Amino acid sequence: MTVLDGKNTAAQIRAELKARTDAFRKKNGFAVGLAVVLVGNDPASQVYVRNKIKGCEEAGIRSFANYLPETASQKEVESLVRELAENPAIHGILVQLPLPKGLDAEAILAKIPAEKDVDGFCAQNIGALALGERATVACTPLGVMELLRRYGISVAGKRAVVVGRSNIVGKPMAMLLLNADATVTVCHSRTSNLKEECLRADILIAAVGRANLITADMVKEGAVVVDVGMNRVDGKLCGDVDYASVSQKASFLTPVPGGVGPMTIAMLLRNVCDAAERATEKKQ
Ligand code: GUN
Repeated sequence: MTVLDGKNTAAQIRAELKARTDAFRKKNGFAVGLAVVLVGNDPASQVYVRNKIKGCEEAGIRSFANYLPETASQKEVESLVRELAENPAIHGILVQLPLPKGLDAEAILAKIPAEKDVDGFCAQNIGALALGERATVACTPLGVMELLRRYGISVAGKRAVVVGRSNIVGKPMAMLLLNADATVTVCHSRTSNLKEECLRADILIAAVGRANLITADMVKEGAVVVDVGMNRVDGKLCGDVDYASVSQKASFLTPVPGGVGPMTIAMLLRNVCDAAERATEKKQ
């Protein structure tokens, strides 16, 4: 079994991006810029945002951190996003989810222009992905594809099973795999025989958010297993895959932490670089 090492792969990608951001700064006289918006005090979100800002530093991206209190109003958040959208030093805007209860996340995200939507969440980017056109794609599924690519794992013709159908991971993951010529099945909470579906997978992606949902008896011998889960059990981070037992069956497997998580951030940084390069090319 080979461990799909997202931590090392992401470090390599950040180093590659550093060369791109250095060249960008030399050419344009200003840095690639990412604005991050965090509303409230969700501890997990605070960790994610801190890691994203640290990733920016390492990749030579200027970060603009915006922290609003739990009590911020819809209007306050929207007017901040509008301000960031108009700032030419900012090439990407990320509003960390989930937002505190009472805020309309959809209306806030809708204020991010598609060209600064580095999360790939807006309808225009998701529509372009569905059509197989050039799109900014959600960072987590993009990170999974990049990890497979860098380990030489081919997707075309393979049977891929995605467990989870969220807008952020499951759906774009299924579309990316389909665009890469896999035969794709999407499973969810109403799937009647999850085990049978999973057993057919050459490539199994677990993205539900339930600790140890995927056990060895659900995995085909030699399958590639990617664990997108980030669950906290007794203060310890663990994925959706029962690592100890599944590692006896899988040919490739991602650890948690150190698998998909760092790749997600690396792809965010890459999306920001792409957006910055497109924005400046457009002006010339
Ligand atoms: N919360 C959990 N994952 C993500 C993500 O990829 N982007 C944003 N903005 N919030 C998240």
